[in-house]
Amino acid sequence: IIRKALTEEKRVSTKTSAADLVTETDHLVEDLIISELRERFPSHRFIAEEAAASGAKCVLTHNPTWIIDPIDGTCNFVHRFPTVAVSIGFAVRQELEFGVIYHCTEERLYTGRRGGGAFCNGQRLRVSGETDLSKALVLTEIGPKRDPATLKLFLSNMERLLHAKAHGVRVIGSSTLALCHLASGAADAYYQFGLHCWDLAAATVIIREAGGIVIDTSGGPLDLMACRVVAASTREMAMLIAQALQTINYGRDDEK
Ligand code: IPD
Repeated sequence: IIRKALTEEKRVSTKTSAADLVTETDHLVEDLIISELRERFPSHRFIAEEAAASGAKCVLTHNPTWIIDPIDGTCNFVHRFPTVAVSIGFAVRQELEFGVIYHCTEERLYTGRRGGGAFCNGQRLRVSGETDLSKALVLTEIGPKRDPATLKLFLSNMERLLHAKAHGVRVIGSSTLALCHLASGAADAYYQFGLHCWDLAAATVIIREAGGIVIDTSGGPLDLMACRVVAASTREMAMLIAQALQTINYGRDDEK
């Protein structure tokens, strides 16, 4: 559905900001995924991007919960920039159990199962193992806020990593696919303020199973609802990045 719609005309609306986009395809894909899963698992709960945008509460209980981003990279999708994915994570007792992320145009399926490894189209994934920030390729995403204070912090965080001599900082327009690049060893670290639990749930399992680290930007344990993350191929790298960052406050998914 997404591949076909990518090159067609779209009806685009905005959500929290002029850069936070949604199309009818986001809704269509989300409804389809939820209705298929609900038929098979009627007692399970759902947290999904477009339902949340329409006011559904994002509360992760102990019940089995599917955490869904129907199109990650909606802005790319709107512009026909072919870096878009579907992301589905699954948690039980607030523990992330497995995740699947599908790169729609390159037809790459990333999967991770707690204790069972991470794979891309059946090939095992391993992070790079890099510990040295001055040898790192770092990925980030801009996030939806564009007010001057937020932009200043965003750019200054990027500047701090470049001052620390990171080889490069990339923004590809899809948090989940950027995190998959980290899992596959094509990048060494990722950080972001302003992403959501549906951007992180599946990718977290995939990165951990590929040998990587996913933590909060404070350097403490990941808080799935805190709208911020540092992920890296090693704990050393994650801590160096966490220490370099200034916080951008996006609130919490479970308080919206
Ligand atoms: C967004 C994208 C974007 C990132 C945002 C995400 P969406 O997801 O991954 O690159 O900056 O934080 O929420 O809205 O395209 O599903």
